[in-house]
Amino acid sequence: MKAVIIDGGFGLENLQFADRPDPEPGPGQVLLRMKAASLNFRDLLTVRGLYNPRQPLPLIPCSDGVGEVIGLGDGVTRLAAGDRVCPIFAQDWLAGTPHRDQVRSTLGGPLDGTLAELMVVNAESVVKVPAYLTDEEAAALPCAAVTAWTALVTEGEIQAGDTVLVQGTGGVSLFALLIARLHGARVIITSSSDDKLVRAKDLGASDGINYVSEPEWGKIARQLTDKVGVDHVVEVGGAATLDQSLRAIRVGGRISIIGVLSGVQATIPLTAILMSNVRLQGILVGHRASFEALCRALAQASARPVIDSTFALADVRAAFEHMAAGAHFGKICIRIDQQSQ
Ligand SMILES: NC(=O)c1ccc[n+]([C@@H]2O[C@H](COP(=O)([O-])OP(=O)(O)OC[C@H]3O[C@@H](n4cnc5c(N)ncnc54)[C@H](OP(=O)(O)O)[C@@H]3O)[C@@H](O)[C@H]2O)c1
Repeated sequence: MKAVIIDGGFGLENLQFADRPDPEPGPGQVLLRMKAASLNFRDLLTVRGLYNPRQPLPLIPCSDGVGEVIGLGDGVTRLAAGDRVCPIFAQDWLAGTPHRDQVRSTLGGPLDGTLAELMVVNAESVVKVPAYLTDEEAAALPCAAVTAWTALVTEGEIQAGDTVLVQGTGGVSLFALLIARLHGARVIITSSSDDKLVRAKDLGASDGINYVSEPEWGKIARQLTDKVGVDHVVEVGGAATLDQSLRAIRVGGRISIIGVLSGVQATIPLTAILMSNVRLQGILVGHRASFEALCRALAQASARPVIDSTFALADVRAAFEHMAAGAHFGKICIRIDQQSQ
């Protein structure tokens, strides 16, 4: 089978194609013919050696993808040939609070990921995806959508009538917008682009703030809630955004610490957290049970992920470069089963 690997050093220039022996499913495992994958910012950091510089190479990158079950190992009853499934992000985290080994069982580093024609995974470590979704839409779910679901639903206990502040218009953020709207919540969204804000409003955001032209966007968000503050912040910016998030949040609100797009070391006023009873909740994607709940909710509403673009596997480097350029709106996907290599 053909796979994309990062080898000989980190960097997009070291993405290459490799021929690997076709894998065989062992007891309790399934063989998947992969159809599509999607990129997350983490995958870009991984390929550049910035996510885990000690990651052994070669590595098949990317955590997210969808495939069809084409082989069953001994003892597998949970799935059948022909099922269309997504491998879960942390392969061993099925439900509950994770232990250390479970959060280390992640695809696309340290484990080989989804950019391969064939993949063997444990039958327990996949989720069947709704039939109405295209392969690209299904491939968009495992990391970004589950992260947004965990932040707002599993941990965030979102209620109808809540106000959610969503930062930026990347993968996690547009899923947060979708999930918040499915729950009857209001969404205030930020972006560096006025055009993207218009598109986000078309998807249901009530208000948009350009975080470049309005660096005090946290204050503006608070004003938009009659100075009460928002109930949730989906915090993907990191070091440069947490201060404004603390300005936007209401007393007793929750900030989901998800991303570090602007850096990992933040200086934050601790009094702003304690005086307002704010909860800072670290989020690491989520477990299989959250993924399954997400799929049920999407299917009830026939809701679709926002797909920015789809690249052929042969153009994998261009797909990563597209993400690095930051002009995307929603998910960047890669078609695996229609390659021209
Ligand atoms: N903890 C977890 O489990 C988890 C899971 C998934 C992702 N993440 C992290 O979450 C972040 C987003 O991931 P993603 O895959 O959604 O990325 P993505 O699709 O590449 O989205 C990036 C978007 O974020 C916005 N952005 C960039 N810098 C920003 C800033 N300083 N303030 C506000 N928005 C900013 C930009 O939106 P505009 O173009 O609209 O300005 C950009 O398009 C990354 O740091 C990623 O590592 C964490």
